[in-house]
Amino acid sequence: MSNPSLLILPGDGIGPEVMTEVRKVIDWYGANRGLSFDVSEDLVGGAAFDAHGTPLTDETMARAQEVDAVLLGAVGGPKYDDLDFSVKPERGLLRLRKEMDLYANLRPAQCFDALADFSSLKADVVGGLDIMIVRELTSGVYFGEPRGIIKEGNERVGINTQRYTESEIARVARSAFELARKRDNKVCSMEKANVMESGVLWRDVVTEVHAAEYPDVELSHMYADAGAMQLTRWPKQFDVIVTDNLFGDLLSDLAAMLTGSLGMLPSASLGAPMANGRPKALYEPVHGSAPDITGQGKANPIACILSFAMALRYSFDQGEEAKRLEDAVEAVLADGLRTPDLMGPEGGTPVSTVAMGDAIVAKLSASL
Ligand code: IPM
Ligand code: MG
Repeated sequence: MSNPSLLILPGDGIGPEVMTEVRKVIDWYGANRGLSFDVSEDLVGGAAFDAHGTPLTDETMARAQEVDAVLLGAVGGPKYDDLDFSVKPERGLLRLRKEMDLYANLRPAQCFDALADFSSLKADVVGGLDIMIVRELTSGVYFGEPRGIIKEGNERVGINTQRYTESEIARVARSAFELARKRDNKVCSMEKANVMESGVLWRDVVTEVHAAEYPDVELSHMYADAGAMQLTRWPKQFDVIVTDNLFGDLLSDLAAMLTGSLGMLPSASLGAPMANGRPKALYEPVHGSAPDITGQGKANPIACILSFAMALRYSFDQGEEAKRLEDAVEAVLADGLRTPDLMGPEGGTPVSTVAMGDAIVAKLSASL
């Protein structure tokens, strides 16, 4: 049997730095757990634009469709701010999501005990927090037509379209209900049914799928603005949150920050099963390319490393090995190791990106 294949797209900014640490973890699994991957690497985002004049070449796109999983660092940076929309670094990522049809974006927000004091919220509000945001990722206002900036009389008008079909809503709702069954069995669906027709349809379809297929799961609905408020008031009331592309973008940043740092949060973007039974999948940290700290050894590699843990769990059916990696991260944090983003008033041992990666690998070895 050949090894499962991984395509690594480090991208821009801190992407390459954090991905170097993930490579150490991947190598560790090959050397110590008999879990070897055929790893290839390619360009995405600004890096691809610089080399090829496009944020994602057709060749890289085709390769992404063939592999068992894609691991992405981050895309974007101020250098590309003035580029035309069609070739912006972000378009590379959006093309991957769209063409691989990665409709379910799983963004867990878990608070590690060692970091509970570090959140801007009180420790008892966030301690032990474990929620999962399921964000629809291939439709909505990100992709709806018409879009553009047009001229109307003597002024310009910016247009984007929020559009959801029933089947798009139903399939992401199913992903959320399936996940809830393996967790605390609760789903909260968020939209703006009070002002948007797409929100009315969203609520209807989620309710229908629930009644027909998942009556055993507890379902509630919230307007997305109230949801944001409740997330900061008492986040532990939630288990799984399912929401659309744009609300999911906002709410997942909010939820991520509850845990203390964007540098901690991984994500999985999953599509339909491939011929081999594995879902189409792309794993990436929730954080961006962080141009302000690029190249200084300050980036926190944990979000990207935990994204690989999600790959072990969701693509390669290695839940125990995923847990081993998550435990290694937790152990390193419990030892007080802190990249600058995690350095709060309570102090800790300051470490670089590389030292954090090395410490996690050392904990993996210690777990054997
Ligand atoms: C995210 C990011 C992306 C998004 C950007 C980089 C296109 O913010 O993954 O949350 O808006 O989806
Ligand atoms: Mg975002």
